[in-house]
Amino acid sequence: MLIKKITLKNFRNHTFLSFDFSRRLNILSGPNALGKTNVAEAIYYLSLGQSFRTDEDITLIQKNEDRAEIEAVITEGELVRKINVVITKLGRTIAVNGKNISKLSDLSKCVNVILFQPKDVSLFKGPPRDRRHFLDISISKKSAIYLDYLSRYNKILKQRNNLLKSDTVDETLLEVTTELMIKLAGSIISYRQLYVKDNNDILNKITRSLTGDKGTFELKYYPFVPYDANFNENAKNAFKKVEEGDLRRKQTSIGIHREDLSISHNGRDIASFGSQSENRIAALALKLSPYFLITDKDKKPIVVLDDVMSELDQRHQDSLIKFLRKFNQVFITGTKLDIPNCNHLLIKPKTKEVI
Ligand SMILES: Nc1ncnc2c1ncn2[C@@H]1O[C@H](COP(=O)(O)OP(=O)(O)O)[C@@H](O)[C@H]1O
Ligand SMILES: [Mg+2]
Repeated sequence: MLIKKITLKNFRNHTFLSFDFSRRLNILSGPNALGKTNVAEAIYYLSLGQSFRTDEDITLIQKNEDRAEIEAVITEGELVRKINVVITKLGRTIAVNGKNISKLSDLSKCVNVILFQPKDVSLFKGPPRDRRHFLDISISKKSAIYLDYLSRYNKILKQRNNLLKSDTVDETLLEVTTELMIKLAGSIISYRQLYVKDNNDILNKITRSLTGDKGTFELKYYPFVPYDANFNENAKNAFKKVEEGDLRRKQTSIGIHREDLSISHNGRDIASFGSQSENRIAALALKLSPYFLITDKDKKPIVVLDDVMSELDQRHQDSLIKFLRKFNQVFITGTKLDIPNCNHLLIKPKTKEVI
């Protein structure tokens, strides 16, 4: 996929900004607070219908304005799609080729963006929720049905928790709800297991390209019960074991909403033993890996690296740029990016009005 053009109106600090993007490397360089991350945010918004910096769309609207707009032209091979996002204080609408979309999965089919931001360096040290989020987003970009499994699971989980909170728990209803949860959990775990398995080869290819290091990184996934021929029985037993505790604490203590991932380097856990640099490389490689898992060339994701280069030493910067030149389309933001043979985009700083 390629973003050919983007136009922002009253989006954050950009009153009006229009860029034609090229294939390969697009560079947004300049001083702090120019609005570079805001452009990255708009590109990301196109793929998920949400920002990576806020849950409140209203903050995306320029101060003292009523609406923000993002317009973009996206191509997928010969297919050309025009995406329009309008955000107002009352809500937002997203249209693809003039037709409003109702499901976000319809949007993520049209635009696929991989984002890496400085805080991703602590992906492995941070809370499990961030790692599950990464895993879920990556899988859903490859298999749209996964999002449906997830949202159905989350609904049932809510029902189960409400049930556990009720004064007199209906035992039969609890059993039926748990069984439904187990069924959906089985599908989700099978996707997660497969994704992690496929990911490991790619992960090592990426880290070797970036560092020359021949060591082995291994991504590990810890399902609450592994998905195999005995999954149903094992999961039922696992739920039985925790039922008393769940009833006491009035919440579901096991399930796919509590699982985690870890990564090791030469057998040692990165989060506990890895240097900052190893953590950064592992997180970067993991974030880039979905690019290689999507085999259809036209559907390959657009990559956005926000403010990542300054954190790397010169050697790692050079090998990362060399590596990224093979990608269909990449956006890199930073304060000083003097990289040859790229499309350098210019954000003009606002001149102060003279009174
Ligand atoms: N809703 C908004 N309206 C106007 N300006 C905003 C809004 N949200 C953020 N900004 C401004 O955007 C600027 C930050 O942009 P950012 O993209 O983070 O800069 P950069 O990445 O170039 O350092 C800040 O000056 C901030 O005040
Ligand atoms: Mg920034």
